[in-house]
Amino acid sequence: ARKFFVGGNWKMNGSTAQVETLLSNLNSYSFDASKAEVVVSPVSIHLSHVRSKLNKEIGVAAQNCHSKSSGAYTGEISAEQLKDFGIDWVILGHSERRSLFHETSEIVAEKTKHALEVGVKVILCCGESEQEREAGKTEEVVFQQLKAVSNIVKDWSNIVVAYEPVWAIGTGKVATPQQAQDVHSEIRKWLKTEVSEKASNETRIIYGGSVNGANCESLSTQADIDGFLVGGASLKPEFKDIIASYT
Ligand code: 13P
Repeated sequence: ARKFFVGGNWKMNGSTAQVETLLSNLNSYSFDASKAEVVVSPVSIHLSHVRSKLNKEIGVAAQNCHSKSSGAYTGEISAEQLKDFGIDWVILGHSERRSLFHETSEIVAEKTKHALEVGVKVILCCGESEQEREAGKTEEVVFQQLKAVSNIVKDWSNIVVAYEPVWAIGTGKVATPQQAQDVHSEIRKWLKTEVSEKASNETRIIYGGSVNGANCESLSTQADIDGFLVGGASLKPEFKDIIASYT
């Protein structure tokens, strides 16, 4: 069985004081680490502190990294540098990176390839806009985003796929359990034909977009929903309830 995965994407939020509160809340949670994997993602300047203060059974993810190892890339951080700080995960291809910072699927794929080579695991985000959904292009868009990665990455064992429909992110408009399940199931079929049967069976496909303490239960019981990538609610006490939805 695939281990339930809950990521907390803090986005560009959190003062030093707020991060202390989040840390003490997270360190007070008890969950069965053999059944659920929990990873939180603060802004880069907080990564090192969060890693050093957080219980070891909770992972830490960067929100981005570069595809090169080092050099003249002002403002960027490499996967090697994440690894050096004990950061084992990175979120790549978030829709905000794609739309606001012009990351193409090819750029996301290069970053994914490099992070995995360095030993940093990847939460790979994909998802369609509202217009694309209305035009019936959801699968086409998601497959194109994933295909850029499968073209150059054959081993998906350290990738978690996050399906995050853009129209559901930060809008309070959560996908229905059936809408999410349908896309997750299509992604799983796609993995079988485009990557491998193993990748199809073992890759965690998590849902993101307006997940909260009240709607997580009905989503988590869907066959192909293996967890969540949580934005807003990961900064609130209800994140505990979302983690607990593996039970
Ligand atoms: P919200 O949970 O705030 O909708 O954000 C989802 C998201 O983008 C997580 O990466």
